[in-house]
Amino acid sequence: MTTTTKLWRIIDLINWGADHFTTKGMDNARREMEWFLCDILKCERIDLYVRFEEVMDEGELEIFRTMVKRRIAGEPFQHIIGKAPFYGRDFIVNQKVLIPRPETEILIERMKTNGNVNSLLDIGTGTGCIAITTGLENLVENIFATDISQSALEIATENMRLHNLENIQFARHDFLSQNFKTKFDVVVSNPPYIAVNEMNSLQAEVRDYDPPSALTDNGDGLSFYRRFAEQFENLLTSDGYLLLEFGGNAQKGAVESIFQNVGLNTEFFKDLQNDWRVIEVRR
Ligand SMILES: C[S@@+](CC[C@H](N)C(=O)[O-])C[C@H]1O[C@@H](n2cnc3c(N)ncnc32)[C@H](O)[C@@H]1O
Repeated sequence: MTTTTKLWRIIDLINWGADHFTTKGMDNARREMEWFLCDILKCERIDLYVRFEEVMDEGELEIFRTMVKRRIAGEPFQHIIGKAPFYGRDFIVNQKVLIPRPETEILIERMKTNGNVNSLLDIGTGTGCIAITTGLENLVENIFATDISQSALEIATENMRLHNLENIQFARHDFLSQNFKTKFDVVVSNPPYIAVNEMNSLQAEVRDYDPPSALTDNGDGLSFYRRFAEQFENLLTSDGYLLLEFGGNAQKGAVESIFQNVGLNTEFFKDLQNDWRVIEVRR
């Protein structure tokens, strides 16, 4: 993109940026351009195409150039615009929390299918995307959410307020070493499941920008599943169930054995890439 006196209309920037990002090997080039422009112009995606002939002013172009440079340097677009979509809504993100991933939305779909419950605990809440979405979708009466990271809990609380909810109870808690005194109808979690020796093989965009404590258990990637199996009776009401994300096909067998070895029943669900991604565990 040159800095001469050429007039840049919204549509020119979308087309230029989509081509530029595609040549840099980015998958979702056009959509990312649209997100940047929506953020700069404080508008919805549809407005970009209604206003497509509008010429961008120099201040807007400068913000756009900075965004493109940061993206080309490898920063996730979600950190650049400070938010990420989850289940059709935006959540505030920064380097202290995992960027919500589309595959995690399956947890919400499962809870919808299983029907409303009285109480839910979300362990390792991060942005709060799971807990907050269950509230916004009216799936649960009483919502509790924990994380070991105080900074994550602060972002989750901001997200709760952003979405005009008040009733989620957040608490700092280390699931691997502390117990809960109450039982819940649903316990849901997307725990850190990358084995520590696989951290170096992650995409740089993930390894360098998501917090390590959100990615790995600093062990074989299965510590949380072992702990959930051991804590099942203490955590779940009589008809309660556990719903967990895990690391895809390669982890399925090991995760299944952990729960079957303590006599629990398991059911698995796939993500949109056709990988096994979610386990539901019941007595
Ligand atoms: C994979 S992230 C999931 C974040 C969010 N729930 C989501 O799905 O986008 C895992 C979260 O677990 C938290 N965590 C890591 N170790 C923990 C522990 N021992 N006890 C509780 N939370 C922990 C991390 O801080 C991080 O927020």
